[in-house]
Amino acid sequence: MISGWTIVVDRGDLAGTEVLRDEPPSASDLSDCEVLLRVSRVGLTANNVTYGVIGDAIGYWGFFPAGGPGRGVIPLWGFADVVESTVDALPVGTRVYGYLPMASHLVVRARLTSSGFVDTADHRAELPAVYNSYLVTSSDPAYDASLEDLQVLYRPLFFTSFLLADQLADNDFHGARTVVISSASSKTAFGTAHRLRSRGVRLVGLTSPRNVEFTTGLGLYDAVLPYGAPVDVEPSVYLDFSGSPDVRSALHDRLGADLVEDISIGLTHQATSQDPRTSSFFAPDRLRKRTADWGAQGLAERFGEAWHAFTAQAGEWVAIAHHTGPEGLVEVWQAVLSGGADPGTADVITF
Ligand SMILES: NC(=O)c1ccc[n+]([C@@H]2O[C@H](COP(=O)([O-])OP(=O)(O)OC[C@H]3O[C@@H](n4cnc5c(N)ncnc54)[C@H](OP(=O)(O)O)[C@@H]3O)[C@@H](O)[C@H]2O)c1
Repeated sequence: MISGWTIVVDRGDLAGTEVLRDEPPSASDLSDCEVLLRVSRVGLTANNVTYGVIGDAIGYWGFFPAGGPGRGVIPLWGFADVVESTVDALPVGTRVYGYLPMASHLVVRARLTSSGFVDTADHRAELPAVYNSYLVTSSDPAYDASLEDLQVLYRPLFFTSFLLADQLADNDFHGARTVVISSASSKTAFGTAHRLRSRGVRLVGLTSPRNVEFTTGLGLYDAVLPYGAPVDVEPSVYLDFSGSPDVRSALHDRLGADLVEDISIGLTHQATSQDPRTSSFFAPDRLRKRTADWGAQGLAERFGEAWHAFTAQAGEWVAIAHHTGPEGLVEVWQAVLSGGADPGTADVITF
């Protein structure tokens, strides 16, 4: 018998994990339009921790309900294979990319699209649509089997970088010519820097003292400063990936009216305080706008071009550490959650 497993975390203390062993669904458990996926390869970064930190506010706990009251399943991005199917167009062996649970298996109710399918399960209906879409690799022009590791790590993050950089340029950087970026060592931040490099703005990265060398070595920022070091006083936009109230306050104190826009994107420091001086960037909102402006095809073409330019270099910046099984996944989760991870290494887990 194939064994199944699900990793549940304590919503109040994300370091509290338990591996639940269970028997996965079989063909006879599937209703019409349902497909059983076997999770195969996933990435795990600080972004997945954010799903837990703001799980209640944004609804991230709702995607893969399991574990009972007070517990939940953290979503991951990755590849899975169809192992049982009631849908002719999604036969056994189909490989898909999308939003997956920390679990060995997932049942989806598939509505076919031109690029794959949408999971129409009732409990996902109210959640942001971008997370419910799955790409079938054989019909994804951007898919390259040799780049699966880069895809599970970077694609959701770089999509945010792409949309954020686009929004800034669309707003002419709010009149500023300097962009200050916190948690500059994070993948979403340096992906944004990669997109902004040729746009005529000066890029200043802020990072932890121990990550200055790595961040400087990326060669993407014009200057890299440790947290606490003074930035030049000039009209600036702040892109906040850290969520640190201290870093934000120090910038406001130093720049005053020269801080023309303060945009919150992430919270790697795991603080959830709201600050009225900040506007929030939520990638699914920008995605809706650009899908309306450019059409799905126009967006895919623009993103594909940016993605190819990024992946051509990304493999040189960060080494990939491979892990296996639910135990490997729990180890990586604890390391990423505690912030002890080296930004020069990224984690991929296979099952
Ligand atoms: N709004 C959106 O739509 C959207 C989309 C994608 C990502 N994001 C957010 O962007 C942020 C970056 O995500 P990522 O996956 O790119 O991160 P990542 O590559 O895993 O970032 C690692 C970096 O984050 C900082 N960090 C990580 N854990 C920490 C901890 N426990 N304490 C203090 N600092 C810690 C450190 O950077 P420093 O030393 O440089 O601070 C570390 O080098 C996340 O908060 C994510 O949720 C938002």
